[in-house]
Amino acid sequence: MAQIIDGKAIAADVRREVAAEVARLTSAHNLVPGLAVVIVGSRKDSQTYVNMKRKACAEVGIRSVHVDLPEDISEVALVEEVHRLNADPAVHGILVQLPLPKHINEEKILSEISIEKDVDGFHPLNIGKLAMKGREPLFVPCTPKGCMELLSRSGVTVKGKRAVVVGRSNIVGLPVSLLLLKADATVSIVHSRTPDPESIVGEADIVIAAAGQAMMIKGDWIKPGAAVIDVGTNSVDDPTRKSGYRLVGDVDFAEVSKVAGYLTPVPGGVGPMTVAMLLKNTVDGAKRGVVE
Ligand SMILES: NC(=O)c1ccc[n+]([C@@H]2O[C@H](COP(=O)([O-])OP(=O)(O)OC[C@H]3O[C@@H](n4cnc5c(N)ncnc54)[C@H](OP(=O)(O)O)[C@@H]3O)[C@@H](O)[C@H]2O)c1
Repeated sequence: MAQIIDGKAIAADVRREVAAEVARLTSAHNLVPGLAVVIVGSRKDSQTYVNMKRKACAEVGIRSVHVDLPEDISEVALVEEVHRLNADPAVHGILVQLPLPKHINEEKILSEISIEKDVDGFHPLNIGKLAMKGREPLFVPCTPKGCMELLSRSGVTVKGKRAVVVGRSNIVGLPVSLLLLKADATVSIVHSRTPDPESIVGEADIVIAAAGQAMMIKGDWIKPGAAVIDVGTNSVDDPTRKSGYRLVGDVDFAEVSKVAGYLTPVPGGVGPMTVAMLLKNTVDGAKRGVVE
């Protein structure tokens, strides 16, 4: 049976460490890390995520700057808002909640965020540095960073291992592949056009599943003892639940837990780590200007 990696508990450890660091920065340097969380419009799901992030900031002592903008804001006005936050010395990180309304070019907005405050790590310069040997990005995207943290805090060695990432999106698949490569794994990426994905996944010591396909990865795909990190968050109908649905990963948990060495559950695996890494990135950003 796989060892189940408790993402909630590991995220709680990270939050405690972040809170201690915030307290130290505040008392030793009179510095309160600040995170601007920008939301445009009133999508219910985005509001839920934003509230969660703001609450998490408050719990560790990070000052969260609320920027709530109307759905019909122009792209020019949103860029001006980002520039204002870029120039604000009390703001060390800027997060623009996605998706943005259709009339706004997301790529344009994300590339206007100063790379020094790009706590989501999505700026093309930060992703470019992540991809290059010998260069270090100022920030690494939170979910991929959370996957790496789950592996290292569970005692899984990455160096020299065969790793397979299922998915190649800009926010998860690609950056997690680059992180694994930087950590000296031999990396393969499986995507929707990959023939015979199961035989490639079957060679992996480490599997990162980020395809957004409910329970796609079955027990007989997995090499016995492999470490499996399930990023997928998919809602499937469940008439036995009051809500009528439940969340499942990209991995068939019941089957894979019998074969893998390590496995993250959904929910309670990668999800809690994403917010914890956002807090960590904000504090790391704030510390950059401090002379110890
Ligand atoms: N827990 C968290 O904090 C967190 C954070 C972010 C995302 N997620 C979850 O992670 C999953 C992936 O998110 P995302 O934003 O990366 O999704 P995405 O942008 O839709 O990308 C999905 C990727 O998976 C590939 N793919 C789709 N179907 C496939 C299949 N049958 N076989 C192999 N590859 C396949 C796609 O290939 P192509 O490129 O060829 O289309 C694409 O690269 C989602 O379930 C999402 O909800 C969770």
